[in-house]
Amino acid sequence: MSLSASEIALIQALWVKIAPQANQLGAEALERLFLSFPQTKTYFAHFDLSHGSADLLAHGGKIFNALGNAASHVNDLAGTLSTLSDLHAYNLRVDPGNFPLLSHIIQVVLASHFPDDFTAEAQSAWDKFLSEVSTVLTSKYR
Ligand code: HEM
Repeated sequence: MSLSASEIALIQALWVKIAPQANQLGAEALERLFLSFPQTKTYFAHFDLSHGSADLLAHGGKIFNALGNAASHVNDLAGTLSTLSDLHAYNLRVDPGNFPLLSHIIQVVLASHFPDDFTAEAQSAWDKFLSEVSTVLTSKYR
């Protein structure tokens, strides 16, 4: 599965709008993730999970900026995300089943903040992109 030129263009166009609000949007994604799928909180026991906390903003920003970096390197996701892939597989050992949950939540955040941009075509492109990112981040488990 690889992204077409038009799908890449849709992802990068929306990223331009996401970037200035990466921390806030990422924090919202984490809050929604923890509310909708409370089991995901087990990985973040050391975080302050209260609404708008510095932990949520900082970590949300890290996740979204990693996506922005991936969006600039869609043709080499494995290389671009290699360090993150090692981290999630070897150090964090996040159950791969959590990745579709976060991918779903990210799409909800994008749809609610950018309703005009998040067309059916954009959603399809983002769904594919997040799926590819997740595949790379869960590729090294053993
Ligand atoms: C750490 C990205 C999915 C749990 C990180 C970091 C990034 C990141 C950029 C920080 C790495 C660093 O500090 O060097 C992503 C992306 C994901 C994803 C792009 C998928 C789109 C998940 C999922 C979970 C998870 C599904 C678990 C539900 C964690 C944890 C940390 C982490 C526990 C360490 C947090 C800390 O102690 O600072 N991730 N992640 N990640 N991620 Fe992920």
